[in-house]
Amino acid sequence: MCGIVGAIAQRPVTEILLEGLRRLEYRGYDSAGVAVLTGQQEINRSRAVGKVAALTEKLQDSPVVGNIGIAHTRWATHGIPAEHNAHPHMSNGRVAIVHNGIIENYAELREELKAKGYQFTSDTDTEVIVHLIEMHMTFGLSLPDAVRKAIENLRGAYALGVISADDPDTLIAARQGSPLVLGLGLGETFIGSDIQAMLPVTSRFIYLENGDFCVIKRDSLHIFDLSGKEVTREIKESNAGMCTADMGEYRHFMHKEIFEQPVAVQSTLEGRLGVDNLKHCVTGDNAMDILAVVEEIQIIACGTSYHAGLIASYWLEEMTNIPCSVEVASEFRYRRRPPRDNVLFVTLSQSGETADTLAALEKVKQDGSMLATLTICNVAESSLTRESDLSLMTLAGPEIGVASTKAFTTQLVVLLMLVGLLLQAKGESPETVKAIVENLKKLPILLEQALEKDKAIEHMAEDFIEKHNALFLGRGDQYPVAMEGALKLKEISYIHAEAYPAGELKHGPLALVDNEMPIIAVAPNTGLIEKLKSNLEEVRSRGGKLYLFADKAAAMQADDDCYVIEMPEVPEILAPIVYTIPLQLLSYYTAVFKGTDVDKPRNLAKSVTVE
Ligand code: M6R
Repeated sequence: MCGIVGAIAQRPVTEILLEGLRRLEYRGYDSAGVAVLTGQQEINRSRAVGKVAALTEKLQDSPVVGNIGIAHTRWATHGIPAEHNAHPHMSNGRVAIVHNGIIENYAELREELKAKGYQFTSDTDTEVIVHLIEMHMTFGLSLPDAVRKAIENLRGAYALGVISADDPDTLIAARQGSPLVLGLGLGETFIGSDIQAMLPVTSRFIYLENGDFCVIKRDSLHIFDLSGKEVTREIKESNAGMCTADMGEYRHFMHKEIFEQPVAVQSTLEGRLGVDNLKHCVTGDNAMDILAVVEEIQIIACGTSYHAGLIASYWLEEMTNIPCSVEVASEFRYRRRPPRDNVLFVTLSQSGETADTLAALEKVKQDGSMLATLTICNVAESSLTRESDLSLMTLAGPEIGVASTKAFTTQLVVLLMLVGLLLQAKGESPETVKAIVENLKKLPILLEQALEKDKAIEHMAEDFIEKHNALFLGRGDQYPVAMEGALKLKEISYIHAEAYPAGELKHGPLALVDNEMPIIAVAPNTGLIEKLKSNLEEVRSRGGKLYLFADKAAAMQADDDCYVIEMPEVPEILAPIVYTIPLQLLSYYTAVFKGTDVDKPRNLAKSVTVE
C-alpha cells in the first residue's frame, strides 16, 4: 500500500505534496514524511508518526522549503510504524526516495550493502534501494543511470520517486507492479500513486505502465519502457476534479457513502437500461460476441468485492445456468486448476489496484487459459481496467472510507446487469432480462426506504458497545450478505464477528451461543425463510439474543430477546442489495459509539497494493 507523491516545479512544492498526501491517506496512515531539495542543494526531510496531520503540525514549527520534492504516507510492511521507518529514506544526505511496494530480496541486498559499509537506520525493505542508488552514484553514474542500475537488482514490486542533491533539476519516477501516475502542469510535473493526489494542481495525466522509468525535469519529460526504449504514453484528461471528495454535512465519509448509495446506484444504471432489455454497456472489443459463447465464469476478488462475487454466483447459476466459481485472489493465484473451455474470467475491485487480484489476472493472461478477462471496477484507468479485455464500470464516485459500502452495492448492480447481458448475448430468457431491468429500476427507491431505518439501527447499535463477539447468519444469497456484515463490523468496530450459513450452526458454532452472544440475521421473506426460522429457534432456546432484519411477510415476532427491524418489501432478486444497508449502518453506529477511527480503521488501508 502506501501513497507516494512528488513534484518538480518553479514554485515551492511542500504544500502541494502535503495536500497530495492528505488525498492519499486512504492508502496508509501510520506515518508520513516529506523531503525537498533546498536552494542550497541540500535535502531537507521531515517525518512524523501517525497521520498526515501530525506531519503538517511538525512542519509548522520547522518548515521545509524547496521547488522539488517527494512525500509518502505509510502502511507498514517491514518495520513498525515509527519515525525511523517512515519515508523518505535517505543515503548519506545525498539521495532520498519514497517507495510503494515490497522488495522481496531486500534481506540479501541489505547484507551486501552492510558489508560495503552502509549503515541502516530503518527496518524497512525500502532502505536498500536508496543505498544502492547512492553506491552507483559513488561509482560515477548519473542519478538516472544509478536508479536504473539499482532497480536491476530489485525483485518485487515498486513505485518510486527519487531526488538527489547532486542533480537538483531532476525527479526520477519508476514503476513495476505498484501504481504510479504522472500529472502534467505548465512547466511543472507531479507524480502520485493515483490522480486524486494531483487533482488540485492538474487534470492531465499519464498512467505509467509496468517497467516504465521517467526522467523528469522542469522543461522536459522522458519515459523509457522496460527494454530501455524511449516511449510516448497517451495523455488523459480527467474531469474527476469536479467530483467532490468532502464530507459535507456528515461526520464520516463512511456515513456519507452509505447515504450516497441510491444516487450511486442511479448513476451506475444511467443510460444502461432499455424498456425491457439492457444496453450493450461492456467496454472492449466484441464484448457481446464473447458473452455469447461463455460456458463458465470464474470470479476473483478480495474482501468486500469477494462477497459481491459470491452473491453473483447464486444469480448467475440460477438465472443463466452457467457454472460459476468464486475465489479470493490470494488463493487463486497460487493454485493449479484443470483447464476448462470458454471460461470468462471476472475480476471485481473498487480500486482496480488490489495486488492479489491483479496478480491473478496476470496469471491467467500469461497461461492463456481464459476465453476473455472482464473487470468490474470503480476506477477508470486503474490497472485492472487497463489490463483486462473487457470492463463494466461501477459509477459509484470516489469511495474514501476504508470500509467499502457504495462500491459493494454498485458492484451487485453491475453483476445483475452482467446476468442480463449474458442472457441477451445468448438470446435466452428475455422474460428474465425484462425482470432484471424492471427490478433494477426500482432499486434506488428501495435503498432510500432501507436508509430510513438509520435512527432505529443507531438505537440497536447501543447494544453492541460492550460486545466482544458477534455471529451473523443468512441463508442462500443472504449468506454472503451476512459475511459482508461480519467483515464490516470487525473492520471498523474491532468486534470479532463471523458469518455462517444458518443451517451450519448446529455443526459447531452453536456451542458459542449464550446470552452474551448477539446473533444478527438477515431474514427477507424468501423461499428459505421457514428454514431460517428453525435455525433461529435453535439459537433462542440456548439463550442467544437475536437482532433481525426482516420484512413484514417474514412474520418475525419481536420480544425481549429478539430485536426486529422491519425492512421494506423487496423483490427476492434485490434482497441481497437492500439488506446490506442495515448491516452497514449497524457497523457504522457501533464503531461511532466505540469511538474508533471509522474512516481509517487501525492496521488497514483502502487500496491493498501489496501481496
Ligand atoms: O479495491 P478492492 O475492491 O479490490 O479491495 C478489496 C478489499 O481490500 C476491500 O474490499 C476491503 O475488504 C474493504 N476495506 C472492506 O470494507
